[in-house]
Amino acid sequence: LTEPFHQPVLLGPVLQFLRPRPGAVVVDATLGGGGHAEAILAELGAGGRLIGIDQDEEALEAARQRLGWHPGFRALAGSFADLPELLSGLGQSQVDGILMDLGVSSHHLDTPERGFSFRFDAPLDMRMDRSRPLRAEDLVANLSEDELKRIIREYGEERYAGRIARRIVEERRRRPIRTTGRLAEVVLAALPPQARHGQKIHPATRTFQALRMAVNQELEALQQGLEGAVACLAPQGRLVVISYHSLEDRLVKQTMRRYSGQCVCPPGLPACRCQPRSLLKVLTRKPIQPDETEIAVNPRARSARLRAAEKLPPPGDPGPVPEVP
Ligand SMILES: C[S@@+](CC[C@H](N)C(=O)[O-])C[C@H]1O[C@@H](n2cnc3c(N)ncnc32)[C@H](O)[C@@H]1O
Repeated sequence: LTEPFHQPVLLGPVLQFLRPRPGAVVVDATLGGGGHAEAILAELGAGGRLIGIDQDEEALEAARQRLGWHPGFRALAGSFADLPELLSGLGQSQVDGILMDLGVSSHHLDTPERGFSFRFDAPLDMRMDRSRPLRAEDLVANLSEDELKRIIREYGEERYAGRIARRIVEERRRRPIRTTGRLAEVVLAALPPQARHGQKIHPATRTFQALRMAVNQELEALQQGLEGAVACLAPQGRLVVISYHSLEDRLVKQTMRRYSGQCVCPPGLPACRCQPRSLLKVLTRKPIQPDETEIAVNPRARSARLRAAEKLPPPGDPGPVPEVP
């Protein structure tokens, strides 16, 4: 690889909140190139165990090359949505820490044939797990105009979602939309002239992000992953999640709140439906964001938001005995 696989984001706060202790068992549920994992392993020491999970074979391969030498390192293929099953397959029901650093890696964005980026013209793929059947091309070809609009508006927070969806449907009747370059052109052509130029981000960015989230069912996996993570943490175990999108961050915030015993139902419901439970203590009242120095070195860190929580001891358990001074 010429480019580094991925630059780990918010590394200091990750270590501070995850608090990996010598000999502990930690899961990196989004292993990527193993940047965070390497720093965590250094804290865990020779007696610790780091279980890395990724749904992308190329990420697993890169991480195995980097960290395979450590006796406590294991890399597993799978989705963090299946965390409890993956861990029980290793005979590990409870762990001391879980990190989730969401989304795609720089490797995904920088590899043309993965089809995540309009910087290159390549087949519209966007799958992180390439054993799954559905590509972005299939969504663009088969979803109705209404479904496309909903996805682009909801996941992309794109104000011109309606115009873009309409244009996609018109253009695909003329000729199938099979490449990132063509989709970017179609999106551009759908926008009013003032939205085509002089924007901070490329005008197709939001549409690409939306399709990526739909192809990989990212929000569904995140919800399931968070539930599984809470279940798998040992008392005093720490959960650290970095998100890059406001919908993800909201889901993380709400789930941590609900598991810290607060109701997160929308106002006006006659009765609570969210079933809050006191299993976690939230450690970050506000999300932690990268500082300017980090953003200058790694612009992709720009939108990162870190939230952390600690698993509470079961009711009736007084927790660890305080140290005698
Ligand atoms: C932002 S990168 C992580 C980078 C990593 N922290 C590092 O330091 O190199 C996110 C990684 O999570 C993986 N991923 C995303 N969603 C996943 C899921 N549901 N299950 C497992 N892995 C996932 C992606 O394939 C990608 O490699």
